[in-house]
Amino acid sequence: MTVERTLCIIKPDAVEKKRAGAILQMLEVAGFDVVACERMPLSRKVAEGFYAVHKARPFFGELVEFMTRSPVFVVVLEREDAVAKYRELMGATDPAKATEGTIRKAHGGNVGENAVHGSDSAENARVEIGYFFPASKVAPVAG
Ligand code: CMP
Repeated sequence: MTVERTLCIIKPDAVEKKRAGAILQMLEVAGFDVVACERMPLSRKVAEGFYAVHKARPFFGELVEFMTRSPVFVVVLEREDAVAKYRELMGATDPAKATEGTIRKAHGGNVGENAVHGSDSAENARVEIGYFFPASKVAPVAG
């Protein structure tokens, strides 16, 4: 098993409800290292670019409105098998279908306002991390 990284976004609904700390704690307890974490408002342009793959979906406008409503936390996570392990901990897209113990079950509201985003593959994780953080900010520590 290799150590890898994935991108988490703690979405506006969870930040507004003051759940960012509780979500970061769930991640740390589950063995993830938080290697970068920045609170930032997403501009329309940045949100549209990040979710460009969903542009043709009927919910795209709603998704961009939501993600730009108030600040998010953009988080880089590291551990063995990070992409799959984080997807497991995150839970199903629709919090009503998420299993007990998952972040979306505990903190999500509905399919649109579902507390967190997670990369769906190691390749997309690299792209998504690079979308928010310059390489210098997430460089592995030598030694
Ligand atoms: P996320 O992992 O951030 O990636 C795309 C997002 O689109 C997804 O989480 C959901 O929050 C959102 N999404 C998916 N399906 C719907 C839907 N039917 N209505 C509104 N938002 C949706």
